[in-house]
Amino acid sequence: MEDLSPRPGDLEPIEIASRDEISALQLKRLKATLGHAYRNSPHYKAKFDAAGVHPDDLKTLSDLSKFPFTVKKDLRDTYPFGMFAVPREKLARVHASSGTTGKPTVVGYTRNDIDMWATCVARSIRASGGRPGDICHVAYGYGLFTGGLGAHYGAEKLGCTVVPVSGGMTERQVALIEDFKPRIIMVTPSYMLSILDEYRRVGIDPRTSSLAVGIFGAEPWTNAMREEIQSDFDMHAVDIYGLSEVIGPGVANECVETKDGLHVWEDHFYPEIIDPETGEVLPDGEMGELVFTSLTKEALPIIRYRTRDLTRLLPGTARSMRRIEKITGRSDDMMILRGVNVFPTQIEEQLLKCTGLAPHFQIVLSRSGRLDDMTVHVEAMPHAVEAAQRAASAKELAHHIKSVVGVSTKIVVGDPDSVERSAGKARRIIDNRPKV
Ligand code: DLL
Repeated sequence: MEDLSPRPGDLEPIEIASRDEISALQLKRLKATLGHAYRNSPHYKAKFDAAGVHPDDLKTLSDLSKFPFTVKKDLRDTYPFGMFAVPREKLARVHASSGTTGKPTVVGYTRNDIDMWATCVARSIRASGGRPGDICHVAYGYGLFTGGLGAHYGAEKLGCTVVPVSGGMTERQVALIEDFKPRIIMVTPSYMLSILDEYRRVGIDPRTSSLAVGIFGAEPWTNAMREEIQSDFDMHAVDIYGLSEVIGPGVANECVETKDGLHVWEDHFYPEIIDPETGEVLPDGEMGELVFTSLTKEALPIIRYRTRDLTRLLPGTARSMRRIEKITGRSDDMMILRGVNVFPTQIEEQLLKCTGLAPHFQIVLSRSGRLDDMTVHVEAMPHAVEAAQRAASAKELAHHIKSVVGVSTKIVVGDPDSVERSAGKARRIIDNRPKV
């Protein structure tokens, strides 16, 4: 694989600034963000007032711990546009991600927000080994999901030639890679494995492809998967992290020369690690839940957003900004299926619409080939146990889940009382996927 270490002059000054400079900038921006949220978002004003804190109470970075957390429910309660700190007319774009129920979580961006986001993604692509002039194949989904358009604007900003393929149609993905010869691909790691299988199916050696850098994220993946992709494609595989509520992809990214965790772009996003049970801030190095506060966002300043992702903060290496360790788990029950975030509560909501089915369910996750499958085990109501009725109920539920949640599922309708009953917290998910 090529040595893609940055050359002198490649990096923005802030990427190699001293810790003191970074902290000073963070404090200045944090004060401005808290003031903006308090003055312009009635939601934040009410929350700060209820907690008895005021933006003037922030004298040092650690004073942030006095401020209340923001959680997904805050976005749900203010759906769709109630959390924004600018008038709706100032929004250049909205995106959305899965809520814990049928309503998605809506996020919004001003023109400046889109520009800042593109800067962070451009920085991420450069850290991954991408350069101006490269062809960049974007196979993240385009649409309400932040992956496709987020990657797209960042690649354009860096000066790449963008190929906006979006996800799906794997045969065409391979044909376009072979014909256009991109140096960079941005895609979920699980879909990259499907692309790998397609290379083999059509009899092309993936090591002969033009790809030199893959920028993979939107779901957890392991170092074992990195090794596989790197050796099978003879390319660098680099991790990109982000979430819609904070901005989208490009909150943190690995550096290709070290691949030792993801540098958080701390000039725009302030990270904390908390104990998920008590909410107490933990020192760097300790495992806990990642919390972010935006430092430069206009439309949706986000204060102490609980990501539910579990990791720890580590000192900077290839850059001065701190790293997060590769994310492997969550402190809630969100599943990520083929790149789509799914909560059990969303499945429950659809199940309750089906009159032939009882409100008991269990989700079984398995892997067929490269991709994850979801089977929902439910049970027939006593009045609907005939085979034809069960088949109709299964079809109805699969249809609701596909059209509202966006994933294809297999439904197994068992006899009344066949689904395991909980003696306390229901065991909603059985994960039979092999651990890579
Ligand atoms: O997944 C944004 C994104 C798009 C990131 C493309 C990277 C590449 P959401 O749909 O809001 O946004 O989902 C965010 O996905 O809280 C994590 O649980 C998970 N996630 C994202 N990136 C990674 C990663 C996008 N590199 C949720 N490793 C986050 C592990 C990740 N999990």
